[in-house]
Amino acid sequence: MNKLPLLEARLSSATGIDTNICAVFQDSAKKAISPKGAYSPAVEKLRKAGAFDAKHGAIQFLRFFDSGSSKVADNALLIGMGPSAELTEEKSRLAGGTVWAKLNAEKCKEVSVEVDSFVAASGIKEADRARLMRAFAEGLVLSAYQFNKYKTKSEAKSEGKLGLKSEKGNNPPGPSQIVFVTQDKNLKSQLELELIQVTAIGEAVGVTRDWSNEPSNYGTPVYYANEAKRLAKQYGLKCKILTEQDAEREKMGLFLGVGQGAERESRIVVLEYSPKGVKNPKTVALVGKGVTFDSGGISIKPSMKMEDMKHDMTGAATVMGAMLLASSWEVPNRVVAVMAFCENMPDGNAIQPGNVLTSRSGKTVEIINTDAEGRLVLADVLDYAQDLKPDAIVDVATLTGAVSIALGKHCCGILGNDEALISAVRRAGEANGERIWELPLYDEYFDDLKSDYADMKNSANDSLGGTIRGAVFLKQFIRKGSMWAHLDIAATAWNLGHLSYYPKRGASGAYVRTLAQFIANF
Ligand code: BES
Ligand code: ZN
Ligand code: ZN
Repeated sequence: MNKLPLLEARLSSATGIDTNICAVFQDSAKKAISPKGAYSPAVEKLRKAGAFDAKHGAIQFLRFFDSGSSKVADNALLIGMGPSAELTEEKSRLAGGTVWAKLNAEKCKEVSVEVDSFVAASGIKEADRARLMRAFAEGLVLSAYQFNKYKTKSEAKSEGKLGLKSEKGNNPPGPSQIVFVTQDKNLKSQLELELIQVTAIGEAVGVTRDWSNEPSNYGTPVYYANEAKRLAKQYGLKCKILTEQDAEREKMGLFLGVGQGAERESRIVVLEYSPKGVKNPKTVALVGKGVTFDSGGISIKPSMKMEDMKHDMTGAATVMGAMLLASSWEVPNRVVAVMAFCENMPDGNAIQPGNVLTSRSGKTVEIINTDAEGRLVLADVLDYAQDLKPDAIVDVATLTGAVSIALGKHCCGILGNDEALISAVRRAGEANGERIWELPLYDEYFDDLKSDYADMKNSANDSLGGTIRGAVFLKQFIRKGSMWAHLDIAATAWNLGHLSYYPKRGASGAYVRTLAQFIANF
């Protein structure tokens, strides 16, 4: 991850700013409304020329703009926000992403945001102001991410040709400082708090994306265990690592079975966050699938896009990000995170279709397809997590290709055994522009997983209802009285470039904010 921009709130314009960002709204006739102040004549001219209608996401960069006596910066960036009555937090976040891309392309370094141009528009409620600006800041910070670790000559490291303040050396891409300027004292203090939380988002989501993007020759189970240990220390979390020997003692036959064909050893990471000064806090357990590479095993996958299977540990990466974010925010609930890392490889020692494995819970599983490995890994760690007596369990996994057939890329799937828990997770998602859709989990779906040789099989003979079958398999390991929900993020974990604040390609980091907020509100 590159360095994130510094975020700051101020009451008066800052010096040394190269670009000032001004919001422009539309009237009911969908025409740009001239903003108060220096940019009014420019907007007027642009509107008359038909060059800028201020529809949501429209953008105009005015280089070396001379605003006369009230000059704030050399350049102005006008961002269209559409009609103010239609502005939502997600639209504000998307505008932040669009603005970042332009600032980056124009090599702007020190920028200010004219907060009052965003919030003074009629139609925006006073109570919504801070949240709308926070979402805009989120859009900026989430867009600042780049993964250049393995590029020997990246854009980030080259000299900016158009840069106003370009220097030779290791300049991170995009602005290094963003100052939010408002005349409203109250709003300024609210923003100060919001911006601290937004910076924590940038860092936590950055970890999730870094982990997910890491190629599997570097990103091995041991690598993630070490990274988790390092980050746990940095964030003040308790951390326990289970080796294969420990997993054997725990009788995790399904988890160990998946890693059996791999040269690289498996690891389980258990993290714990406890809120300070809260008596008897509630506990949320987050459980993540961390398959560092899913070749399919003996039921090997076709080679087309197999490289994407380095992302098959994104469930664990999302759990890690959510854990870090929840702890940065100092949420009032306890969190335990259990992340199971292993590699699914074909080998002389790999599990084979027809094999029967015994789970930690004691239930036996006939392996039909070694590519349905995520559910095997999760079954044992879900059982382990329940021993920790959490009040709710949420697991996160790139579990099935079928979830992209069912839901596409505009939401992830949720299934579980408790409607209140599912609603709470979905609400947290909605509040963060991260949509979640529930699929049914009728017991009859388990009929397809009945085995002639064991208590169940890990896959059926056809591909109907794949996401539900994955979840109904997991459900066999959920004890009576445990509140559980399962997020299938296989379609949304990477390549979400249709949203301006996600990278065009590679890990999205989606649902980290959702999960942290769910924990905060639990
Ligand atoms: N890791 C995959 C799921 C996946 C596929 C994630 C494509 C992202 C993109 C998982 O382990 C898997 O292979 N699932 C199988 C299950 C099947 C064999 C029952 C699938 O979805 O095809
Ligand atoms: Zn698989
Ligand atoms: Zn997998």
